[in-house]
Amino acid sequence: MEKIYFDNSSTTFPKPKEVPEAMYRYMTTIGSNINRGGYQAAYDVEEAVYETRQLLCRLFHGEDCKQVVFTKNVTESLNVILKGFLKPGDHVLVSSMEHNAVMRPLQQLTEQGVSFSRIPCRSDGTLCLDQAEGLLRENTRAVVMTHASNVCGTILPIEEVGVFCRTHGLRFFVDCAQSAGVCPIDMAKMGIDALAFTGHKGLLGPQGIGGFILKKGLETELDPLLSGGTGSLSHTEFVPDFMPDRFEPGTMNLPGILGLREGLLWLERTGIDNILRHELELTKQFLSGLQPMEEDGQIRSVGLPDTIGRTGVVSVQTVGRELAQVAYELDSRYGIMTRVGLHCAPSAHRTLGTFPTGTIRFSFGWWNTPLEVERALQALKELLYGI
Ligand SMILES: Cc1ncc(COP(=O)(O)O)c(C=O)c1O
Repeated sequence: MEKIYFDNSSTTFPKPKEVPEAMYRYMTTIGSNINRGGYQAAYDVEEAVYETRQLLCRLFHGEDCKQVVFTKNVTESLNVILKGFLKPGDHVLVSSMEHNAVMRPLQQLTEQGVSFSRIPCRSDGTLCLDQAEGLLRENTRAVVMTHASNVCGTILPIEEVGVFCRTHGLRFFVDCAQSAGVCPIDMAKMGIDALAFTGHKGLLGPQGIGGFILKKGLETELDPLLSGGTGSLSHTEFVPDFMPDRFEPGTMNLPGILGLREGLLWLERTGIDNILRHELELTKQFLSGLQPMEEDGQIRSVGLPDTIGRTGVVSVQTVGRELAQVAYELDSRYGIMTRVGLHCAPSAHRTLGTFPTGTIRFSFGWWNTPLEVERALQALKELLYGI
């Protein structure tokens, strides 16, 4: 049975072939660390890592590629940013559509006297920004927000929130897990102070590599979560205060960075506008194919009704059929891979009215085709109507 991968929000698959090739080449022919060895091979890898920072800085319109920090994923990045920045007594605003990568560190921080308020979102995931001002307190220091929902694909109005943050003197931290490599992102234009990304989704790199980019100067307001050897300033036992070493202790994931570099180069060649257009065409086809099933009361799709203001992620609930069973049959009978449940975002599901049951999520990627979408629609029809 031919397999159809519709779980690109979890991690994109396949990757451009250059990604594993570069990782394999590095592992088999180079293998050296950087910032430690005094030989040409180490300098070459160092150069490739530097180039990767430049590619990321260019993609997100950062100020300086030295402000790009590598971590293992966006979860780690958000932990470093939130736990490094927030102090007892601080208050932050989040949207009600956040992933647990934001909510769990924040819940942990409440034990140390940090508090947060949720800016409500509507049942289609759109943000009620007009309600944000009423939630401000004297001790509010930042807004933390996802750019695009991993549950229903709704894009949040980051540029407007950036203006809100500047107006009220707040720092603005954005979780770009679902938008990086798919939506245009401009840190300067959007007023983003810290942008957190993961390498294995829209950036098409492997798992285990991610990072964040800081606006210049913010690093002095962030206490490093981890510390250790950096290969720099080896005479001192104190954490370097310069970027990116301040936040990059220990040996880096070099195969991951070199793979990510190829993903970024591929993105530049392909163009993220083309990627979003393709994913939204598939989304449109899927949504309109779902419509008769919705009218029959067999299925309910959540989020925005159209392709405006969203990414290529569609969540549905089947009426009268258990979601996990439908997802299982999609895979076992039709080879269609989706994700079922709460997608690590209980707050988003509460907002969308799908808590605690969750949804079946179809997330489209560059390599998916209209024929595959057609097959998914046909499979759903067969399963729901018992054809
Ligand atoms: C919106 C959002 N934030 C954070 C994450 C966490 O990503 P990672 O597991 O790569 O850290 C995800 C992953 O699905 C996500 O969709």
